[in-house]
Amino acid sequence: MQLSNTKKILIFGAGHGLGLGLTKAALKNTQARIIALYHREENAYDLLAINNENLETQKIDVFNENALSGLSKKHQDIDVMINTIGFLHNDKIQPEKSLRDINVDNMLFAFKVNTLVTPLLLKHFKDSFTDNSAYMVLGAMVGSISDNQMGGWYGYRSSKSALNMIIKNIDIEFQRSKRKTRILCFHPGTTETNLSKPFLAGIKHKVWQVDEAGENLLSLIEKVYDKKDLFYFWDGSVLPW
Ligand SMILES: NC(=O)c1ccc[n+]([C@@H]2O[C@H](COP(=O)([O-])OP(=O)(O)OC[C@H]3O[C@@H](n4cnc5c(N)ncnc54)[C@H](OP(=O)(O)O)[C@@H]3O)[C@@H](O)[C@H]2O)c1
Repeated sequence: MQLSNTKKILIFGAGHGLGLGLTKAALKNTQARIIALYHREENAYDLLAINNENLETQKIDVFNENALSGLSKKHQDIDVMINTIGFLHNDKIQPEKSLRDINVDNMLFAFKVNTLVTPLLLKHFKDSFTDNSAYMVLGAMVGSISDNQMGGWYGYRSSKSALNMIIKNIDIEFQRSKRKTRILCFHPGTTETNLSKPFLAGIKHKVWQVDEAGENLLSLIEKVYDKKDLFYFWDGSVLPW
């Protein structure tokens, strides 16, 4: 996989945050046509302000399968597809600190967004890839069961752990069906976005800006493409599941 040879890259969750960082990195480092898919227009103003002839933007509801089916018919020969859609908190839902915060609807929502979008997109796009292609998904280190030292964040952690299982399943199905698309799950490193901002106080390690993280993650596809593992830290080291 050589990013410089790619002709079409689809990015879901491109309106802001890491998806926007990846969109900018792809525009800068490739000649590919970049199809940037966003959710809420009011959050996508930075994306919609970009003026670049290689960029195509489109609003999409990823839970509307008719919309996904239509989009996949429009876009064949995808070299790279990226899913950065994720959820940790909103005005009404905060990550659980302890068992007393368990709320079934809130946890189901975390699973819907963090776990189920990845296979749902592939249901519609699995036949749309080139032979030398990649599907890159953003996971999270807190989804690693063996790495869990602190507990808490029941919905987010467990929905990302479940995503790891989905990634493994997809890899097995790809191998069985001799598909040449590589599925990869990356932990981006802590990055300043709407998702992370309320939790950044007191963090001692490096916090990335979205443009830096976008460059890291895009180049990582090329770096690990020919390796065997599925789940990587932003620097290319393998993360335990
Ligand atoms: N930032 C970090 O430090 C960090 C660390 C580890 C892992 N990650 C992972 O990286 C990914 C990107 O996170 P981020 O930090 O860039 O977060 P973000 O700035 O909050 O972006 C999340 C993206 O997901 C979209 N989204 C959320 N709910 C959606 C829904 N119901 N339907 C469709 N789209 C939806 C958002 O679009 P709208 O705003 O338009 O809804 C936005 O484009 C996530 O999977 C996150 O778990 C981030």
